[in-house]
Amino acid sequence: MQTDVRPEAMKRIVNESLAKQFIDDQVKALRRQVGDSKVLLALSGGVDSSVTAALLIKAIGKNLVCVHVNHGLLRKGEPEQVIKVFRDQMGAELIYVDAVDRFLDKLAGITDPERKRHIIGKEFIDVFAEEAAKLDGIKFLAQGTIYPDILESKDGIKAHHNVGGLPPELDFELVEPVKLLYKDEVRVVGKALGLPDGMVFRQPFPGPGLGVRCTGAITRDRLEAVREADAILREEFAKNGLADKVWQYFTIVPDYKSTGIKDGKRTYEWPVIIRAVNTRDAVTATVPEIPFSLLQHLTARITAEVKGVNRVLFDLSPKPVATIEWE
Ligand code: XMP
Repeated sequence: MQTDVRPEAMKRIVNESLAKQFIDDQVKALRRQVGDSKVLLALSGGVDSSVTAALLIKAIGKNLVCVHVNHGLLRKGEPEQVIKVFRDQMGAELIYVDAVDRFLDKLAGITDPERKRHIIGKEFIDVFAEEAAKLDGIKFLAQGTIYPDILESKDGIKAHHNVGGLPPELDFELVEPVKLLYKDEVRVVGKALGLPDGMVFRQPFPGPGLGVRCTGAITRDRLEAVREADAILREEFAKNGLADKVWQYFTIVPDYKSTGIKDGKRTYEWPVIIRAVNTRDAVTATVPEIPFSLLQHLTARITAEVKGVNRVLFDLSPKPVATIEWE
């Protein structure tokens, strides 16, 4: 097993040839570590787990078993993309678990954000453990741990962020091929492995997903509104050249309503809040200037296309005093 300390002499992976070297070394190391055994991986579709999966597919092919748990809190199109890229294009062994009802039933009526996080994290581990129990004789578990995770967990900063961490009751040997890499290096490696840009350059997305953007008690209709509004925002930012200029952007639908008028009739519906921030490390953040005409266009589209919404707001608050997420 690799050490948890990045050697000082290790070169920063900044280009394709360094990435290819890393990939060759890791493929050999992975084959040495796991031999002919099967390896299990929780594949969320995020950059880190996707790159881990692609490395393992290259090293051991069908002996990697990926489990994609759809907890209902993913962005529009994400579960479909995971299936398309990994099962259809890379030929991976992929178990897709539709756990949407299970998660949403457990979350029904829960308003406290930390309770919501806890339920999502625990349920994830339970679903994953159940899937693992159905498979015989797997002793390796792959994880997309990256170097900042190691540094931050040492400092105690990030414990609550690791939805999808190792189920403690399961007795696996860990396989963590990217654990000494920084995020930018993981992206360079992902690109060299042929993963699509949409996956490699994905903006950060919290483990509890849209669950913390549908504030208060999550309901299916409000969750759908967050998902649809988020998809419109992502589409418009991409079209307007903002997708790679703004670090993180998303929508929130809070659990209160206000009055409005649609087709000459009074409505009582939710607002959609647009959040867009720039930051280096997510510890502090600023709000970039978004062209007013784009905000107007977003307002027009969201109020016309998203069911149950009659207002659009733009969050101008930097971090501090506000956090990036609303919960
Ligand atoms: P805040 O809201 O604390 O967010 O300013 C800082 C960064 O962390 C992300 N975030 C999370 N990531 N699980 C995660 O994996 C979480 O529970 C969580 N909460 C916040 C947030 O999206 C931002 O990038």
